[in-house]
Amino acid sequence: MAIKKVALLGADGNLGPAVLTALLAHSFQATVLKRQSSKSSDEYPEGVSVAKVQDDFAVDAITPHLHGHDAVIATIKGSQTDIQDRLAQACVKAGVQRFIPADFGSVDSSSERTQDLVPLYKRKTELRERLMKLAEENSSFEWTSLVCGHFFDWSLDFLHVWLKERKMDFLDDGETKWSASTLERIGEATARILLHPDETRNKIVYVQSFCVTQDEVFAAFERATGEKWEKISYDAKKYEAEEKRKADAGDLDAVENLVWLLGALDANWEAKQNFAMKTLGLENENLDAAVQRIVKEKQ
Ligand SMILES: NC(=O)c1ccc[n+]([C@@H]2O[C@H](COP(=O)([O-])OP(=O)(O)OC[C@H]3O[C@@H](n4cnc5c(N)ncnc54)[C@H](OP(=O)(O)O)[C@@H]3O)[C@@H](O)[C@H]2O)c1
Repeated sequence: MAIKKVALLGADGNLGPAVLTALLAHSFQATVLKRQSSKSSDEYPEGVSVAKVQDDFAVDAITPHLHGHDAVIATIKGSQTDIQDRLAQACVKAGVQRFIPADFGSVDSSSERTQDLVPLYKRKTELRERLMKLAEENSSFEWTSLVCGHFFDWSLDFLHVWLKERKMDFLDDGETKWSASTLERIGEATARILLHPDETRNKIVYVQSFCVTQDEVFAAFERATGEKWEKISYDAKKYEAEEKRKADAGDLDAVENLVWLLGALDANWEAKQNFAMKTLGLENENLDAAVQRIVKEKQ
């Protein structure tokens, strides 16, 4: 059945606005779900409904808000799995067909290495396993997870690109290819999942804006700024061991650094079975154009 009415939880975060924009561009009827205590503005583009849910997101409190919806998307923090669990259960109760959880990973949460290094991905996987079970038990319920690689135009610090200093961090020779996506690409891909419900049912799908090496990104930043940049090189094995030691001791920056490492060394989606660019009708974007825009916006 065609998906028409979609509820989005997390519309005011880093990724949510891009997803909402894409949903509206494809003429989905959109409802923004938000907690009662939310401090975010309730101003959304014309035609968007707002549903305020009590803060504990109890299944019975969410369910009435989901009646009549065909899909629910969560763009809250990936670590907020309890809320997503309840949201998925409410989907089943309200007869919502498709649930897209807050995966949108820099890396593939189904990879063992990833789960060992960064516990967040274990939690994302555990949530996905519960979604699989719900889908097995309820034929009307389906899920899709989207893995997109690093958000490319969100935070340059997160990518270890130091724009002001004209420096960039490198792992080993910087020649490993990794998939990355702009926020616009991720929003668009999310909307297109809902336009292709059969091909995307109950699976992780992978998309990208481009698949690039650190060397290529470095050169693109040199071209966009018209200046020479400095490379700061790290031995990946030593870097991983050191950051893991710090992460295990509770250092949250080290956790982010491990995500950066995994997203640069273990995130080439082009060979994945569910690489969904063709299915979703998407093509690679131009790296130089993306970097030029980022430099213009962030400089
Ligand atoms: N691939 C990458 O490079 C990358 C980077 C960043 C994030 N991600 C992933 O992208 C997804 C979205 O992350 P994000 O950074 O966009 O999220 P985020 O900005 O932290 O999400 C904020 C949104 O969540 C809502 N929210 C926060 N706490 C809530 C609660 N207790 N109950 C209900 N709503 C709550 C906020 O609404 P109010 O405050 O208005 O209530 C706001 O709309 C996650 O899966 C994350 O892991 C991937």
